[in-house]
Amino acid sequence: MKRLFKAILFANIFFYICSSISSDPLLPGGKTSNEVENKNSFSLVARNLGDNLKINFLVGNALFERIWEDAKFSENIARDGLGPFFSARSCEACHISDGRGHLPIDESDNAVSVVIQISKNQDSISDGIKNLPDPIYGNQISEFSVESIPREADIVINYEYVPISYSDGRIVELRKPVIKIRNFNYGDINQDTNFSARIAQPMIGLGLIENISETDILINADENDINGDGISGKANIVWHNKKNDFSLGRFGWKASQPTVYQQTADAFFHDMGLSNKLFDNPFNCTDAQLSCQNAVSGNSKSYDGYEVSNDQLDLVVFYSSQLGVPVRRNVKDINVVKGKEIFFKIGCNSCHTERFVTKNESTHQNLANQIIYPYSDFLLHDMGEQLSDGVDEFNASGTEWRTPPLWGIGLTSVVSAEYGFLHDGRARTIEEAILWHGGEASRVLEEFKSLDKNQVNQLISFINSL
Ligand code: HEC
Ligand code: HEC
Repeated sequence: MKRLFKAILFANIFFYICSSISSDPLLPGGKTSNEVENKNSFSLVARNLGDNLKINFLVGNALFERIWEDAKFSENIARDGLGPFFSARSCEACHISDGRGHLPIDESDNAVSVVIQISKNQDSISDGIKNLPDPIYGNQISEFSVESIPREADIVINYEYVPISYSDGRIVELRKPVIKIRNFNYGDINQDTNFSARIAQPMIGLGLIENISETDILINADENDINGDGISGKANIVWHNKKNDFSLGRFGWKASQPTVYQQTADAFFHDMGLSNKLFDNPFNCTDAQLSCQNAVSGNSKSYDGYEVSNDQLDLVVFYSSQLGVPVRRNVKDINVVKGKEIFFKIGCNSCHTERFVTKNESTHQNLANQIIYPYSDFLLHDMGEQLSDGVDEFNASGTEWRTPPLWGIGLTSVVSAEYGFLHDGRARTIEEAILWHGGEASRVLEEFKSLDKNQVNQLISFINSL
């Protein structure tokens, strides 16, 4: 009798463990996941990182938060080299608390944490060019510059409001940003230039994303929609500087960067004007911007000839790859359970893919063999004209965006007071973000709009539990 009881008990425990692993996993980032629900939710080191490597994470963190200074103010001191143009003085200024950026609240607010990409209209891009730069202003408009040099222009963002209604007549007012670039200081910009506002993205789980095998991502691509579900999913094939060849893009709103390393080197150069191993020019300006070309260089022998040394770059990359993902919350709440059913029933998962397993081998062994739940396929989808920015990046057209991972998204408001969803931060709530879906997601959007108020709340409860 006792034995039977024990057997039943074990069977129950076994069933409980299995079901909690297979049905609704608590650990979206596998063993990197951290149980914390406060302002630091996105800032913690991967839980399974070896103690001996934690020091690298801490030093990387300090560099991520470091406020860089102009070259001229501190000759021979480590902080050299910001600018001549820059969009912010530190990584952290945009990736606030390792989370996302936001649009300016009103005209008096600045647009730090937003980057304005620029690109001329073109038929197609080739030869490793990310997007076709403006001959005077390059790829990006910088709102700030070192003291001796005029900044490129002022960024002003206004809003239009557009109503959208559910099938039963409920109305939600959506906010659409209108980008105005004023006071160009280096001459007129081409008439056919497009401006794209991008908010900084959350920093969690990036090393895990890098460790998903290419095959596992490409298997979901269906560029010509052969399976006829209205959803294609296209890989962005982008330039990989280190390999000197094209490679699968994974990072950025249009998946135009192949690695955390390249994205970081690019951020140092384009967002802060700091030269490094991949971008050795201390002046992040075009030939047409003469005063900028004549600014003080911060390149220094003690930093491998750059403004950011190879070690410093590696440490920031290490930090950026080793931020853990927060554990899920309220998974047993009935609304969350029902919301998850709706998510799968109406087809949100056709792009927001629930689960991957990372590769067996990795340079960071703690990121290998992890069962992860990012809720993204990391592919590009046509999201319709309303979300278009008119800027091409490699294979991605103006209307195409990479499905963003949804892990951690429910903690966004806990991490920072100001935030926005979607590439330009236009959506003030999860509901607004969903209502902006169009293009390939039109059919899913129609399904969403025919949900009643209670079902919408259940779906949002599920998203908030991620
Ligand atoms: C001026 C604001 C700004 C600064 C400063 C900045 N970033 Fe970013 N970051 C962004 C934006 C905007 C994106 C999205 C880029 C895109 O899609 O074009 C981004 C994307 C990223 C991504 C890709 C994340 C993902 O989910 O794909 C990484 C990694 C990253 N940044 C790291 C850094 C690091 C490291 C630094 C400091 C060296 C830094 N960033 C500085 C604004 C900034
Ligand atoms: C056709 C593919 C597709 C489908 C289907 C889809 N999404 Fe998305 N989703 C995307 C893409 C791509 C974006 C980013 C768009 C942008 O930034 O402009 C996005 C963005 C989001 C965001 C904002 C994420 C962020 O970090 O800002 C949320 C939340 C979201 N989707 C939830 C849903 C839900 C819920 C459903 C089902 C009702 C759904 N999505 C269906 C592709 C899809």
